[in-house]
Amino acid sequence: MTVLILYATTEGQTRKIAGRAGDHLKLNGKEVEVIQISGANGLDLSRFERVILMASVHAGRYQPEFLAYVTLHKAQMDKVPNAFLSVSLSAASTDPEDLEGIAACVAKMTAETEWSPEIVVHVAGAFRFAQYDFLKSWAMRWIAAKRDPTASTKADTEYTDWEALYGFLDNWAA
Ligand SMILES: Cc1cc2nc3c(=O)[nH]c(=O)nc-3n(C[C@H](O)[C@H](O)[C@H](O)COP(=O)(O)O)c2cc1C
Repeated sequence: MTVLILYATTEGQTRKIAGRAGDHLKLNGKEVEVIQISGANGLDLSRFERVILMASVHAGRYQPEFLAYVTLHKAQMDKVPNAFLSVSLSAASTDPEDLEGIAACVAKMTAETEWSPEIVVHVAGAFRFAQYDFLKSWAMRWIAAKRDPTASTKADTEYTDWEALYGFLDNWAA
């Protein structure tokens, strides 16, 4: 089985998630291609038996290149079993308002692109203070103080639950 993983990222956590997901599937005998979505135009999706798309939430929205890609390629994606992994900080929360917020991000994406993924999985991302410019750093300090006062504002703080991710992949690709 050949699996395609397409990802969009801003600070790099989704690239890490895509890479680790690819490595896990390979260890389990799958052939995998991991490609950043900005370089995926012209890719023949019919070569793949399954497709995973990944993008991360920034101010309630996914990366524009992800939205553009699914808008353009939704007909081809609908022919292949597919899943969408939405990466966000809210996915690490148990607050119903946070969880409603990320469900609303997916609903907005579906309404805008008219692409409905077969499966949606919410994956917790990370604070990556080393990647933030001054303004982002200022905003993210405020968010960290509210969400996780123990989070370092100097090093990365990762919330991604790798075992949950691998568990999903094992079921989905079985
Ligand atoms: C400027 C900015 C805005 C963000 N907005 C949201 C948001 O609205 N909701 C949320 O749950 N997470 C939000 N996040 C958290 C990101 O989704 C999280 O850091 C994720 O790991 C980023 O993935 P990436 O490194 O692949 O871009 C935001 C992060 C940044 C830097």
